[in-house]
Amino acid sequence: MTASPIPDVPPNAPPSDVKKPVADRPATAPLDFKQLLETRGDDEAKLFAEHVNPSLSKVLKTLGYHVHYTHGRGAHLFDEDGNTYIDCLGGFGTFAVGRNHPTVREGLKQVMDLDLPSLPKFGVPRLSGLLAERLLAVAPGDLEMVYFCNSGAEGVETAMKYARAATGRQRIVYCNKAYHGLTYGALSLNGGVEFRERFGNMMDDCTQIPFNDLAAVERELSKGDVAGFIVEPIQGKGVFVADDDYLPGVAELCRKHGAVFALDEVQTGYGRTGKMFACEHWNVEPDILITAKALSGGYVPVAAVMSKRWIHDKVFGSMDRCMVHSTTFSQNDLAMAAGLLALQVIQEERLIENTAAMGDRLKSRFEALQDQHEMVAEVRGKGLMLAIEFGPPKGLKLKMGWSLLHKLDQSLFPQAMLIPLLQDHRILAQVAGHNMDVIKFLPPLVVNEQDINAIADGVEAVVAACHKFPGPVWEVGKRLTAAVVR
Ligand SMILES: Cc1ncc(COP(=O)(O)O)c(C=O)c1O
Repeated sequence: MTASPIPDVPPNAPPSDVKKPVADRPATAPLDFKQLLETRGDDEAKLFAEHVNPSLSKVLKTLGYHVHYTHGRGAHLFDEDGNTYIDCLGGFGTFAVGRNHPTVREGLKQVMDLDLPSLPKFGVPRLSGLLAERLLAVAPGDLEMVYFCNSGAEGVETAMKYARAATGRQRIVYCNKAYHGLTYGALSLNGGVEFRERFGNMMDDCTQIPFNDLAAVERELSKGDVAGFIVEPIQGKGVFVADDDYLPGVAELCRKHGAVFALDEVQTGYGRTGKMFACEHWNVEPDILITAKALSGGYVPVAAVMSKRWIHDKVFGSMDRCMVHSTTFSQNDLAMAAGLLALQVIQEERLIENTAAMGDRLKSRFEALQDQHEMVAEVRGKGLMLAIEFGPPKGLKLKMGWSLLHKLDQSLFPQAMLIPLLQDHRILAQVAGHNMDVIKFLPPLVVNEQDINAIADGVEAVVAACHKFPGPVWEVGKRLTAAVVR
């Protein structure tokens, strides 16, 4: 037998302890992360480019987004030169309670120090029932059951399986421009084409219809073979908001035609839109509510799919089916604790009220830009999920710049605005999707008036600059164009 290359004793265990049983040896000292990050700080970007995502690394460099952030706190990121950034990307909306919230951190440390029996699997987890109770207390309507998993996409997969099991039907209906995640089921409900290329066939029996089109919902549902309709109340891509009568109409049509109504609130849930759940804006009660992102407290990935009891029963309703839908890390203690702590902070720090107030303030500053600048076509969104859409200019020179950029790539113009926003105003934001002239803002829900004023001032300056041709924004556009051509 050849010797294993892996030593059975950790190399850093003191030699005198090597013969003792593992349980009797002193615990291995943890990695010194502070020192590790200090000594390897210069290698972070290089290793990421070499071994994690070379293409993203190139994109970051091309766009000037390769900032070496060293810390994050609340709504802010800090770089190695001591600059402070307002984070309007918020980890794609994950940092609702802000980065590194001290309450969440202390709570998680407490849970770790309790040596809880996480993931007993054939035993009752200690925290999942408690989190389920808290979630259902704030959930709309008569949702009674919670399934925990690890990501938004997994939550969407869950809703798709639930809808099929509940109805015995196959077809899932979804919307144009929808984004529900990138696993195969969720990707089969993606309302664009850009994420599907090279990945082969998607799931059969998924039908795309236009968003905000009740007649299309009726047309599909009335065929009688639809298991479920899955929709975002405010679409993350482009920040398109449901019309006043849309979601109530959808709920009614789903009831009428026996289809499950699933709302994807992965992005909008837990205060983002100025309500605990966005569906409250329309007073609708889904059969399934998919949530994730903010529930993590910014620390531990977790998703919660809330459903009506009858649907849950159809999936799990006999002893032999008790684990028919499951995932290993579901209900792990740290994820459950993060959820409990995130909810505590959102409620006790009144973040939903703050979101509504700060969101209104930011939206009205953005709306004021519409009167002053011809290319500001529309301001959309609710709470702190906001977007500005730009449209073609009328003036000759501006028109030239606009069509040049758009000929090369439909996403260059908004990106050309976001670069000076980051570099000159230290505001990190994102384009709202492929092939659209929309920039999007998802700041943590802890932003204050000073942050909001700084965001609005920065955006105002960049929007004004993009209305000057030639001008700094178009210079950035030229640089981007050259990079695209290269
Ligand atoms: C509405 C919506 N659904 C689902 C997802 C997928 O979530 P995840 O990236 O955690 O898989 C996202 C992610 O952005 C989302 O915004």
